Amino acid sequence: PVIHGAGASVSDRKRVAEKPKTVRDWWPETLDLRLLHQDPISARPSHVPHPHSATVEGSSSLPAAAYASYASRLSLVDLSELRNDIYEALTTSNPAWPADYGHYGPLMIRLAWHAAGTYRVLAPLNSWPARRYILWPIKQKYGQALSWADLILLAGNVAIESMMGDWGTVEPLWFGFGRVDAFAPEEDVYWGHEHEWLEDSRHDKSKPAADDVTGLEHGLVNPQGPGGDPDIIQSAKDIRTTFARMGMGDSETVALIAGGHTFGKAHGAADPDTYVAADPEGAPIEAMNIGWKNSFGSGKGKDTITSGLEGGWTKDPAKWDNGYFSNLFKYDWEQTKSPAGAIQWVPTEASIAANGGMSAVSNVVDAHDSSKSHLPIMFTTDLALRFDDVYGPISKRFHDSPGEFEDAWKRAWHKLLHRDMGPKSRHLGPYSVTEELIWMDPIPPIDYATVSSNDVRFLKGKILDAVNRAEASIPDLVKASWASASTYRCTDHRGGANGGRIRLEPQRSWPANDPASLAKVIAALEAIQLQFNKTQAATGTQVSFADMVVLGGCVAIEEAARRAGHTVRVPFVAGRADSSQQQTDVASFDAALKPRMDGFRNYDASSDARPERGLIDRAHLLTLTAPEMCVLIGGMRVLGANADNSSVGVLTDRPGVLSTDFFASICDDNITWTPMSCGKLFQGSRPAGKPFTASRVDLVLGSNSQLRAICESYASADSTEPFLRDFVSAWSKVMMLDRFDLLQPNQGK
Ligand code: HEM
Repeated sequence: PVIHGAGASVSDRKRVAEKPKTVRDWWPETLDLRLLHQDPISARPSHVPHPHSATVEGSSSLPAAAYASYASRLSLVDLSELRNDIYEALTTSNPAWPADYGHYGPLMIRLAWHAAGTYRVLAPLNSWPARRYILWPIKQKYGQALSWADLILLAGNVAIESMMGDWGTVEPLWFGFGRVDAFAPEEDVYWGHEHEWLEDSRHDKSKPAADDVTGLEHGLVNPQGPGGDPDIIQSAKDIRTTFARMGMGDSETVALIAGGHTFGKAHGAADPDTYVAADPEGAPIEAMNIGWKNSFGSGKGKDTITSGLEGGWTKDPAKWDNGYFSNLFKYDWEQTKSPAGAIQWVPTEASIAANGGMSAVSNVVDAHDSSKSHLPIMFTTDLALRFDDVYGPISKRFHDSPGEFEDAWKRAWHKLLHRDMGPKSRHLGPYSVTEELIWMDPIPPIDYATVSSNDVRFLKGKILDAVNRAEASIPDLVKASWASASTYRCTDHRGGANGGRIRLEPQRSWPANDPASLAKVIAALEAIQLQFNKTQAATGTQVSFADMVVLGGCVAIEEAARRAGHTVRVPFVAGRADSSQQQTDVASFDAALKPRMDGFRNYDASSDARPERGLIDRAHLLTLTAPEMCVLIGGMRVLGANADNSSVGVLTDRPGVLSTDFFASICDDNITWTPMSCGKLFQGSRPAGKPFTASRVDLVLGSNSQLRAICESYASADSTEPFLRDFVSAWSKVMMLDRFDLLQPNQGK
């Protein structure tokens, strides 16, 4: 989610969440599974591909099939025509909503920043004050060949290009297409626990809210200062916390805010409370999803009310220059109020006098009347860039070296727009980034022949030999594959088995991955890999470690099924490549991807009293449905794939055999479960046999009515074949989640 001053209106409109009337009200503690079943296929028109659907238009069974389908449509678009269409739209003022300075560019930059790759045209994001309607004719023209998400962000780029250079000669900024639109509001965007917009129950001035995942106030940094208090230093802390959550460092944060506010202005002609009507989602039906009807004066142009703050930062807000920093450092600033009553800052009279008097002030030209001009303004958040101990020197450096600032701005802007796009192979079109950027978790291209099906058979034999020689056990092979692939997150396409990072720091040392037994598996697989690659010098064929670790899982599962008396084939598609340690941002992997809990391996190093919520979260990141989640847990438990080789949840008397025993035990009323003293585990006494131990993650499968129904389906007499089929299919899905390389998207014109 993107954080901005959007909701920072001085207006304190109360948006009380509609009182829900569901079963959830009666049993609020029930585990919420909605995260796993969002954006249903039935929510979108049939010609619009679904992001996680397995079979779209007959394409392969990759979850990313919708992306492939979008890629082929996009490839038919003439992108220079599209860019020109956007430029025309941005520079053609529509009297219905006159453009400030005759250019919608700043508005589009702000819209793109709000969207920043996570934009959804649905509540709550569409209730943020930004007008994407300027782009509707273009969306209408290109239809499904261009997603809203790509269009909005590209418009931000075209805006910047046209205001930083001369349209026609300016080089396009880096841009990767490939964002697929959602059609139902996402359940995974956690907006905080407030019940009213702009309610602020998260400020404790003494410490930043470390565990909080959203912005510091309902989706925003307050431009006036924390909770409306113009405390510049505290405001810097809020900015740092919020931007860090977006993966931005201090220099990137300064570059982004300063670069953004080099363009455009704030709008606060009058008090929003008095003049501005409801947002699109709350507006009356006849408003047709437009919202914010402004009854002040003409309601537009000079009378516009958006945030309630008023004014621009630089002399010519539709052109790139270094005016933001020169103003920031040239003047002393004093508090004032916008016409709408919001706190903002203007140069003091004394500092104006010291800098040559009013005639020398770099006044900001009026947005609609070029004969008028205004004093430049700063928000409390802008002053933080000068007065914070860390931001201050960075700002000074950018002020002194405009070239460095320009470069930092363009790079941070690109990161802002692409940080949830995943590896470079997912960037479509001809303007894609030309450098290898570490935050994209680079994976090198394959410059050798990949293994044939004969080679795969040979390698599987070698892995099985290693199992039989006890160099690698079945549970350890399963765990290594899982540890490698299950880092994937559908929210930003990071993680996954590709890159083979499981053999690198920090992953190989993560406690969830059982470093000691993982090291044995790595050694065994590497030995086979090296030997194979050596013998293939003549053919030029090679196998990557990333492929080996996935193949190890296939061998282990097939062998465990054989021990249960069944023959299964776990699909394997070669073609993963190995990244190097230098291509791996250790700190960022640790911060973002390190598992604190993983219900699939019964691993829990968290302090969460209800780890089952973490299970649902991980299942969602892996795009699993509830049945896929259950079948994986049931299978992995009997395979003995627990972290630390613990027997928690291994509800079978024949571990290592791929059976439906876990489900049978979960649904067995003769087992009596009692909480153990540690508070996290339960003991299950059985009429015969040693007692079982289980976690909350195990027991929730039997206690939650929806999950229990799924477990019963796998516990019944006729379920063995469906269980094996579904387990293998869910397993393969996880292994393939990051195989964007297979899509070979057409790169567009
Ligand atoms: C305008 C706040 C960061 C780009 C504004 C406005 C506010 C605001 C309140 C006025 C909106 C209006 O009344 O129309 C903030 C805060 C930030 C922040 C609190 C972070 C601490 C950024 C960043 C960018 C950006 C990172 C771009 C990368 C813009 C632009 C405008 C704007 C282009 C002018 C929009 C127009 O002319 O219509 N910002 N902003 N801002 N912001 Fe930011």
